[in-house]
Amino acid sequence: MKLTIVGGGGFRVPLVYGALLAKRERLPFDEVVLHDLDQDRMERMATVLHGLAEERGEELPFRATTALDDAVEGADFVFSAIRVGRLEGRVVDESVPLSIGVLGQETTGPGGICFALRTIPAMVHLAETIADKAPSAWLINFTNPAGMVTEAAQQVLGDRVVGICDSPSGLCRRVARALGLRPEQMWFDYFGLNHLGWLKGAHDAERDRLPELLADDTKLGGFEEGRLFGGDWLRALGMIPNEYLYYFYEDAVAHMGESPRGAYLLESQAAFYEQNGQNPAEALQAWRATRAERDRTYMAAERLAAGVEADHDDGGDGGGYEGEAMAVVEAIANNTRAIMILNTANRSALPFLDERAVVEVPCIVGRTGPVPVAVGPVPAHAQALVTTIKDVERTTIEAARHDSPELAVRALALHPLVPSVTAARKIFEGYRNRLPELADRFA
Ligand code: G6P
Ligand code: MN
Repeated sequence: MKLTIVGGGGFRVPLVYGALLAKRERLPFDEVVLHDLDQDRMERMATVLHGLAEERGEELPFRATTALDDAVEGADFVFSAIRVGRLEGRVVDESVPLSIGVLGQETTGPGGICFALRTIPAMVHLAETIADKAPSAWLINFTNPAGMVTEAAQQVLGDRVVGICDSPSGLCRRVARALGLRPEQMWFDYFGLNHLGWLKGAHDAERDRLPELLADDTKLGGFEEGRLFGGDWLRALGMIPNEYLYYFYEDAVAHMGESPRGAYLLESQAAFYEQNGQNPAEALQAWRATRAERDRTYMAAERLAAGVEADHDDGGDGGGYEGEAMAVVEAIANNTRAIMILNTANRSALPFLDERAVVEVPCIVGRTGPVPVAVGPVPAHAQALVTTIKDVERTTIEAARHDSPELAVRALALHPLVPSVTAARKIFEGYRNRLPELADRFA
């Protein structure tokens, strides 16, 4: 079995490699290939991976290449976690809207639209390469904005593209823990789009336990989303939103300050990548320290704005980004028919969207890939927001595929977090001014 990791110099690659080491028995990959355009970053990561293997006394050989055809050829699974324009691009995505008082965030709002405009052509190219060199491979997509990117890649590869995010499963684990239950014993009615979802039911063998959780301020105070949104608003909704809904429900911009999160990450990761030349153990230690800082500061501004003091937590063992990735591979390779919340084509899971719309819902995952379950009717406000954002996403995909400035402005202007057409035009102008590649394409 061959696994290709596209974006092999990326910061989260050691998480995936660590999970591969841990799952060796169940996932016998005999070839692992890292691909990245940047040889230096990939070497730095390779050293960290050697550090991990040494520490565990295990071996999982891998090679690294900058040639995409070679990396992808004959793969069974391709993981994609690329950042087109790197963190420098994220800084632009976030700071341009912030400069006129509009939300500046990696995936939500204008930042996500600009990120998608940059990323979609690269992902379509990857999908076409897979269609050519590894037509039976599964593309497991972490590349953000994951919903839009997955839908664009599906236009080439159909259902063999699966989009992943760690936030829905994290929410479910935190809710289970708050209730004193084990998540694998429960059913979670979660629905929406990537970074735009709600938990509307959390069932154990007897009943839906969400109402009792919503009624209990102490329990709600014990986990992130409970603290972020507060009991009163959660009871008004009757659901628990994904943490990214914070940007729709609160005036996050007022608390974000001038320097976007991307700038902080750029600085801390640049310091890590510059230490090339360390031995594997040192490299691993440096990576862990940088990673711990990232976790500690994740959504810190938002938590501060909500008056929340505790740190981010991922809800306990067995999950996270890498856990999700391995669970998908395991479910497909071993036909386990596991239940996971994934980004996949709707079929009719959300009856108000068409069948090709990529949605984020519980799926049964086996040899033939994820099959979404029927979610059924949802509250009108959620349906309205999902419908609006799906239209923005599709307009963005079209804009990216046809290099259309008109469609790009339309996507920005129709996003509920952009206050006016004038603001949308200013933001797009700002993006073009600061990103030469965008200026060329969207002339
Ligand atoms: C979560 C989301 C990812 C996102 C990340 C951002 O894990 O699910 O999609 O990329 O947060 O975290 P960062 O530390 O880069 O702000
Ligand atoms: Mn995500």
